[in-house]
Amino acid sequence: MSWIQEAELNLRERLCASILKVGPMPEHVAFIMDGNRRYAQKCRVEREQGHSRGFEKLAETLRWCLNLNIREVTVYAFSIENFKRSKEEVDGLMELARQKFTRLLEEQCFLNVCFAYTSRHEITSAVREMALGVEEGLLKPSDLSESLLGWCLYSSGSPDPDLLIRTSGEVRLSDFLLWQTSHSCLVFQPVLWPEYSFWNLCQAILQYQVNHPALQKAKLLHEAACRHQQVEADRACVLEQLGTVGETGGTECKQELILKYSREREERVSNFRQRLENKRRKFLTDLVQSSAPFLRV
Ligand code: IPE
Ligand code: IPE
Ligand code: MG
Repeated sequence: MSWIQEAELNLRERLCASILKVGPMPEHVAFIMDGNRRYAQKCRVEREQGHSRGFEKLAETLRWCLNLNIREVTVYAFSIENFKRSKEEVDGLMELARQKFTRLLEEQCFLNVCFAYTSRHEITSAVREMALGVEEGLLKPSDLSESLLGWCLYSSGSPDPDLLIRTSGEVRLSDFLLWQTSHSCLVFQPVLWPEYSFWNLCQAILQYQVNHPALQKAKLLHEAACRHQQVEADRACVLEQLGTVGETGGTECKQELILKYSREREERVSNFRQRLENKRRKFLTDLVQSSAPFLRV
């Protein structure tokens, strides 16, 4: 049987889902699943039980997301900082993750799991990739841009989350998707993650819908500003080149040179991205092969 229970929503849930779907729905939702240990304490069960129920809750939440036509879900399952917890807790979490995620990922194609992750680490590695690209001559320093950095992140294949939800009442991001959430609706809910309900999710979506016009406007303005910056950057590079060779062409000639320069830059960036993608694919293939004996459930 599927771990993500196939059961349909009940009548009240279905009614609420269809009302929500009249409004704009988030396509990508990110969760900081927090509060497992407090839940264990509250229910007087072992800490590991709290984590285990947290994983069960994820399966349930994915089912709700499927029913709400949410196409992509990203979860913060374990941060690099979490390695500082006791060895016993870390080992227990690793074992739980091995069992549960193997099963979840077999069934799902819309789940991204951030494990042993922090956003600063991700951004630093993206900057390193770009620096390497320049060092190897694939990129010019002037090719580095906000969008190129975005492409170098692990999330480059996905749109940014529309909605980010953190449970347990903590109002911080704890180094999660710092780059990707600049135009996301951030919702902090007091409920502990293992107690998360369909109604909590609906409430968060409602908050997203209320804020949707402002978020959309800010996003579009930002995209336009990025495009403008890129045109200006290309123009500045061409003018600098002309200045160096002491050339002063007419306006039409300059426009042509700028277009030519843009095409060449796009080609450099595309080659660089292709190489990065191949490198990452190889890394993942090697990782899967080397961990295959451990991943069997
Ligand atoms: C989130 O719950 C799960 C992980 C960080 C792995 P916590 O373990 O942080 O539980 P609280 O926040 O201390 O209650
Ligand atoms: C953040 O939760 C990481 C996950 C939910 C996996 P933490 O509970 O570890 O974060 P802090 O330490 O309270 O910021
Ligand atoms: Mg916590």
